[in-house]
Amino acid sequence: MKKKLLSIVLAMAVSATFIAGCGSTAASTEAPAPAAAEEAAPAPAAEAAEETADVAADAADVADAAADAASGDVAGKKVGVCIYQFNDNFMTLFRTELESYLKEIGFTDITIVDGANDQATQSGQIDNFIADGVDVLIINPVNSSSAATITDKVVGAGIPLVYINREPDEAEEKRWQDNGWDVTYVGCDARQSGTMQGEIIADLGLDAIDFNGNGKVDYIMIEGDPENVDAQYRTEFSVKALQDAGLEVNELDDQVGMWDTTKGQELVANSLAQNGNEIEVVFCNNDAMALGALESIKAAGRTVGKDIYLVGVDALTEVVEDVIDGSITGTVFNDHIAQSHSAADAAANFVTGKGNDYYIGCDYVKVTKDNAQSILDSLK
Ligand code: GAL
Repeated sequence: MKKKLLSIVLAMAVSATFIAGCGSTAASTEAPAPAAAEEAAPAPAAEAAEETADVAADAADVADAAADAASGDVAGKKVGVCIYQFNDNFMTLFRTELESYLKEIGFTDITIVDGANDQATQSGQIDNFIADGVDVLIINPVNSSSAATITDKVVGAGIPLVYINREPDEAEEKRWQDNGWDVTYVGCDARQSGTMQGEIIADLGLDAIDFNGNGKVDYIMIEGDPENVDAQYRTEFSVKALQDAGLEVNELDDQVGMWDTTKGQELVANSLAQNGNEIEVVFCNNDAMALGALESIKAAGRTVGKDIYLVGVDALTEVVEDVIDGSITGTVFNDHIAQSHSAADAAANFVTGKGNDYYIGCDYVKVTKDNAQSILDSLK
């Protein structure tokens, strides 16, 4: 029950949420509007109560799904889950919660496989699941660009499909709708997370950011896998939020860290060696890389909050603790609980013939020193 209530607690703890939609199979009926993140701005406190009510309704939907499932609808149904790579901090949280919630809503036959970040390996695993006659597949693709091939294969075998975490492109999502296929995507709009990262920095104000006094925000960008829309949008929208706040930006470096702590550490160490005190802000597309960045920042004798700023995305526990003690400026909660529950509910809806919308969304939540403790408490 605690986890079902998490979204409610978060909505009360912060006012920065977007349209509600987490944890509900009746979330959005359409693909996300391209302009959605451009409207990314903290909701006024007055809207918080309404949002809380919406999220509470979502939690009630989740409870209903669990109740339906408990009636035995999904027991004995085979669910296959393909994860792009087990060795990924965020996807490990997601996968663990997904497995436990699939069990909670009554699935008894669950197989989860590791694609080891290799599309050929994952495609073989999908073939095996099809041959095994699974009733539904939940797929976190290694390459989102392989989605059309995956969809054709899975739909061709008459198996419903729930994509998670790596969003296929618009043309692919349109195909599901045009053909009335049992395919959906569950995830958050990465533009929102990028915007929130930028806002965390912009809210500090130029005077606090501009250590070198050149009147600009001098930043470096550490990107996740550039094939993922999450990396593309976080990179673009974090900077856009600074510009939208009227700040002039100067990119000193842009490197690909593939969501990985060690790569993040190496890249930031190199960049600090090259650009030294000119770097005022380190944007990391995720927290795993921010943790690596923090090590290099410390090793270079710099201090977050004093002569440099650092932001990530995901709200890994370690990072939220760092936000509380000030060693990381901020992060953005990537709600693995709402996403995994929505994915499991969508799988249940497919196998019980209820069907799903083609896009099931979820909101990110900005995490700064102001609300980090309440976020941490809710996650525990
Ligand atoms: C992102 C997440 C990253 C990484 C990636 C994998 O949403 O922020 O940490 O897990 O998904 O696709």
